[in-house]
Amino acid sequence: MVGIKGVYQTKFGELWDKSLMGLMLEAGEGAINNAKIERKKIDLILVANMLGGVLEGQNHLGALAGELLGLKNTPAFRVEAACASGGVAINQAAMAIKAGQAKNVLVIGAEKMTDKSNGEVALALMGAASEAERLAGLTFVGLYALMARVYFEKFKANKDDLAYVAIKNHKHASLNPKAQFPFPVLLETVLKSSCVASPLHLFDCSPITDGAAGAVISGEDGKENKIKLAASQIATDSINLTERESLVELKATKIAGQKAYQEAGIKPEEIDLAEVHDCFSIAEIMAVEDLGFCQKGEGFKRIKAGDFDLGGRLPVNLSGGLKACGHPVGATGVKQLVEIVTQLRGEAEKRQVKNCRIGLTHNVGGSGATAVVNILKKL
Ligand code: COA
Repeated sequence: MVGIKGVYQTKFGELWDKSLMGLMLEAGEGAINNAKIERKKIDLILVANMLGGVLEGQNHLGALAGELLGLKNTPAFRVEAACASGGVAINQAAMAIKAGQAKNVLVIGAEKMTDKSNGEVALALMGAASEAERLAGLTFVGLYALMARVYFEKFKANKDDLAYVAIKNHKHASLNPKAQFPFPVLLETVLKSSCVASPLHLFDCSPITDGAAGAVISGEDGKENKIKLAASQIATDSINLTERESLVELKATKIAGQKAYQEAGIKPEEIDLAEVHDCFSIAEIMAVEDLGFCQKGEGFKRIKAGDFDLGGRLPVNLSGGLKACGHPVGATGVKQLVEIVTQLRGEAEKRQVKNCRIGLTHNVGGSGATAVVNILKKL
């Protein structure tokens, strides 16, 4: 069995006093302590990070993490799959355990983004897009805005519908002390915020964030290993939007989701809660549809109706999501896991879902070229 023994999340936000190294160390130490495991039992370290080389001039993060944590001779390397790096690192940890190559894997997701201007960060993030998209001057806000426009046309949705994603996720973030924006927002605040790439406004976007998260993934049985990684599936699609079959869905999400449900032996209706990749409000609408939580074209109606609120039929993004908890890109997939494990253990305090047993994480790289779906079950 592959289980999650320990988890930890740093505060997310604009962390002036924290370096990439400091964040990695805090998340790594935090996860090891939470797992109550002897440090020397860690036999593999995976560091999920996208932008360390471009923004910080620091590559080679695996060995660096090992040195920082006093685990110098342990196998360690960096995992990169754009904003899906964290989800992919969890998948790689599970693979190493299943292959018999490791028993206890420390996964750290970390990103330091706010020391550079937002323009430099936007350019660096575009390393996850195609050359044609970069040369056309697009940013990720622009790419998702294009998808939103096609979605509006096909399903008769509008800007107000998008706003309910931000309202829900800010409401959840207000219950999460680790969130970057732990406050609720009103409909008029969202609608009156500045337009970034029409139809997406400031509050339709995830922010630029510093932060890290860690997890000890373990193949050992025992009472500390009661949260099972029941499925972990990755799918990919074309990097360039123009090569996609449809712009109102992420096919990689659909494939990874279907394979994960099959691996876990469950149906979408059995999921009690989920953390989905809401890098932009339109992304959450497509995600709840592509993961089978509702019909295609219905996502925005179901969000507005409260289906995915705390107390609703399937709470989504209780951490506040990328939108309001923040999106330190390489850390996001690991943070999603931290939130689900915290919920399944019954330790989520004010945002706790009662009697939850099965949770799902959905982590996307770029505009949908990589998608990872992990399913967790409380034993
Ligand atoms: N939601 C809510 N408030 C936000 C915000 C967001 N996403 N981003 C910034 N803010 C707030 C800041 O806290 C600040 O508030 P203050 O004036 O009270 O201090 C204010 O808005 C201005 O912040 P600033 O950083 O100058 O904003 P910006 O206009 O330069 O950048 C975005 C805003 C949306 C363009 C930027 O956050 C962005 O590019 N996000 C997308 C990141 C991305 O593409 N990630 C990868 C996804 S695939």
